[in-house]
Amino acid sequence: MQLNQRIEQVKMDAKERLNHVKTLQEFQELKADVLGKKGPFTELLSSMKDLSAQERPAFGQVINQSKAEVLAWFEDKSQQLEQQLVNEALQKEAIDVTLPGKTIRYGSRHLIRQIIEEVEDLFIGMGYEVKEGPEVEIDHYNFEMLNLPKSHPARDMQDSFYITEELLLRTHTSPVQVRTMLENTLQQPVRIICPGKVYRRDDDDQTHSHQFTQIEGLVVDSTATFSDLKGTLLVLAKQLFGEERQIRLRPSYFPFTEPSVEVDVSCYKCGGMGCSMCKQTGWIEILGAGMVNNNVLAAAGYDPQKFQGFAFGVGVERLAILKYGIDDIRNLYTNDLRFNRQFK
Ligand code: DAH
Repeated sequence: MQLNQRIEQVKMDAKERLNHVKTLQEFQELKADVLGKKGPFTELLSSMKDLSAQERPAFGQVINQSKAEVLAWFEDKSQQLEQQLVNEALQKEAIDVTLPGKTIRYGSRHLIRQIIEEVEDLFIGMGYEVKEGPEVEIDHYNFEMLNLPKSHPARDMQDSFYITEELLLRTHTSPVQVRTMLENTLQQPVRIICPGKVYRRDDDDQTHSHQFTQIEGLVVDSTATFSDLKGTLLVLAKQLFGEERQIRLRPSYFPFTEPSVEVDVSCYKCGGMGCSMCKQTGWIEILGAGMVNNNVLAAAGYDPQKFQGFAFGVGVERLAILKYGIDDIRNLYTNDLRFNRQFK
């Protein structure tokens, strides 16, 4: 074969193979094959020994030019491959801004907490202070100072968890009344609400829990009247159950109030006409209240000749159950998120 032809063939062959190269690795292998020491150009140069001395320089030049040409093709191809890699990376790493984002699940306040805060807000707006007391309470504050001496039969109404003879888990939030009045050594007027956990020996079931939540209210000054109590409770009932609600007071008995009342709200389901919710009475019991018993005022250092006041105590779970038609009090404690999320 003519050397010229051989050169053309080497070039064509290199071009053809280069066209088929797809990856960087194939490229490098081919480059070593074609332009490396054992490649066709080396072979071409060594075959020049068969030429005459006059022919050699011209052919040498042709071979070197051809090699430079092929090298240029390889450089082009290398750039092409690099560009291709960049394009592939760009495509792979592209962000689709139209994809829906990851949703962040927000927590929310527990229903019991929500009701407490709703009531707190209402009363803070009327000038009350929020007060808290210990859940482990002394018998003296939980009962005696509230006009329930040791032998009092009404103690049976609140079956208690005693820790020692004198120490128990408080059975109601009423001892916070006592603590607040005792703290107030100057006998200034008191206007407080006291939310918190209370404990009674009950077997847990659909409607009972050994631990539940109460909110206590207490107003003591020189003028607080029974009408003030009634007006205050009406505001509370409207806040919780709707603007159209009415309240009804029925005589009752609590050792710490005299007179004592049980408070009903007009049925928010039937508007008072009578339905299954209110057992056809039109009314639903929501809390206990009364005028602070003189014995309680006196025990806490408030002279009953100068001071009077009213108090009330409401069960928060009961409010939740009534307001949202919850059929099992235990749903409020087991923290099943599917339940809790309903009250966001
Ligand atoms: N302490 C009572 C209870 O747990 C509730 C109560 C009733 C509180 C009347 C009061 C009140 O302050 O005046 O059953």
